[in-house]
Amino acid sequence: MKKIFLFAMLCLVISVHAQHRPLNLIPEPAHVAVQSGHFVLKTGMFITCPDTADLGLAKLLASQLKSIGTGGLETAVASEKKGKIKLLRGLLPGAAGHAEGYQLIVNPKEIQILAAQPAGWFYGMQTLLQILQANYKNGQKQLIFGQEIPCLTITDYPRFQWRGLMIDVSRNFFTRDVIERYIDQMAKYKMNTLHLHLTDNQGWRVEIKALPKLTGVGAWRVPRTGYWRGQKAPEPGEKATLGGYYTAEDIKHMVAYAARRFVDIVPEIDVPGHSLALIASYPELSCTKTVQQVLAGDPWNASRTNVLCVGNDSVYVVLDQIIGEMAGMFPSKYIHIGGDEVSRAYWDKCESCQKRIRDEHLKSSEELQSYFIKRVAKIVLSKGKIPMGWYEKLPGGLPVEMALMSWKDDKGGIASSNKGHKVVMTPAAFTYLDFYQGDPFMENAIFSVNRLSTTYQFDPLPAGIDQKNVLGGQGSLWTEQVPNERKLQFMTWPRAFSLSQTLWSAAPKPSFPDFVKRIEAHLPRLDRDTVNYSRYFYDAIVSGLRAADKTLQVKLAAELEDLKIYYSFDDTDPDQYYPMYKGMPLDIPKGAQNLRVVTYRDGKVMGRILKIPVTELERRTP
Ligand code: ACM
Ligand code: ZN
Repeated sequence: MKKIFLFAMLCLVISVHAQHRPLNLIPEPAHVAVQSGHFVLKTGMFITCPDTADLGLAKLLASQLKSIGTGGLETAVASEKKGKIKLLRGLLPGAAGHAEGYQLIVNPKEIQILAAQPAGWFYGMQTLLQILQANYKNGQKQLIFGQEIPCLTITDYPRFQWRGLMIDVSRNFFTRDVIERYIDQMAKYKMNTLHLHLTDNQGWRVEIKALPKLTGVGAWRVPRTGYWRGQKAPEPGEKATLGGYYTAEDIKHMVAYAARRFVDIVPEIDVPGHSLALIASYPELSCTKTVQQVLAGDPWNASRTNVLCVGNDSVYVVLDQIIGEMAGMFPSKYIHIGGDEVSRAYWDKCESCQKRIRDEHLKSSEELQSYFIKRVAKIVLSKGKIPMGWYEKLPGGLPVEMALMSWKDDKGGIASSNKGHKVVMTPAAFTYLDFYQGDPFMENAIFSVNRLSTTYQFDPLPAGIDQKNVLGGQGSLWTEQVPNERKLQFMTWPRAFSLSQTLWSAAPKPSFPDFVKRIEAHLPRLDRDTVNYSRYFYDAIVSGLRAADKTLQVKLAAELEDLKIYYSFDDTDPDQYYPMYKGMPLDIPKGAQNLRVVTYRDGKVMGRILKIPVTELERRTP
């Protein structure tokens, strides 16, 4: 009987739901029940909160509403005014224990956002903003006042506490304003951690008052533009003018901006490798002590090292100063110390490093690397912070207090979680946002491909992992090939929608085609907010294959099954009246120099025309 009743209720909810425009929420909330009826938002209504301390958040909601066209809402403390949008404090029915959870209730009289903590109000607000934007018609820039919000109850909370994005601000520098706009956007999708990779061979980006050369020297390189690798080395006397850094004042501003949106900024200095900017500033800290310049993409050679001298005690004094100042600037409980990709060759030739190995009874330079990480992790702990690092497999191990990022693949995360480390999953093949989103032939060379559909398959809980030690995951955006804000946005969206869904949503995961339908509802909002994004997920996927007699053939595919693919071999641009690809491998006609392909949906061109030389197809086909 109870079952029949529940089934009847479910049918009712589904049938009522069907009458409304789809909500297209990203990420999908844990529980959504749409009811009949609606609330009408009108100018002059009050957003109320329990205390004056919460007014800032209420005002943020009013300004976010204004930014989508629903201006004219007032804010007040609940004891003083009767609210129509009410921020209410309380434990969530069915979601107690979720610090960031919320319940959003829309009834004909009012909107309530119930949360145990302000973060929950913020996330409830973001959901409400998305529901209001579901009312936008195609191309319509302003929400018309008086439009209806369906009555509903949403109970929602995150699947993971670490829902991160990383920006490498060393390879290319991005100003405080760019970072704040980025934070604004990520927070709308309930992402809550921004990891800043602040130092690398190409620049030092954080002011350390005790060590002025870090930014006086280390933040600047000779200007070069275009493809990052193989650039002309600095000419004699050439000025290093490209770069920049965050002052302590900038950091304070960014951290406060982020905190208002419940985003934690986790700072990283990458040591002992990836340290050329530090070494360019203080050459005495490398094994060779040679004077060097910050890398501008010029070819590396064996006379140079980007690794700190582990045998030199001054290195630890300097790191203590740096980490001490950073602990004061960044409220995050974590400080990331890098630790990846250390070239140990110079340690093998360095007297101080070899002495350290003997004095500490170490067996190898790999154990020396563990020694260094353990010592620097202790410095971080001494400043009241939790050390974090990139996972590297080392025989001497890593200190168990250290949280680790699994980046090459899942294996580091699986192994470390089982040894008691907290882990953040950012396996390159699924979450690296520097990788190509479309055909590699059409973009500047970078390491690999990571399409939207691949990102959507990211699983932060692979088999064998100790789930209780998984903090969450992140998308990591390395910026060798990201010279400006538009490209930064382009590499992030829409792949970050996938990450948001995976890392927040505790609901069953929609199919990829369903999820793309949601994404398509959000792209006009990015347009309106002048946020750039990639449409390469509409492109054809071109691969070569070998027939039994080894002749080259072509296979075409698309990330979305509802796309039709048209092609040509005669060096003209195909459209929907050209031959359509039917799934069978194509022979390459005699004399053809280029394949061109394009995709359509419902008679409308969707992807780019890809022009791929036959020589390139030969190259990519073993
Ligand atoms: C990394 O990609 N080297 C962490
Ligand atoms: Zn050394």
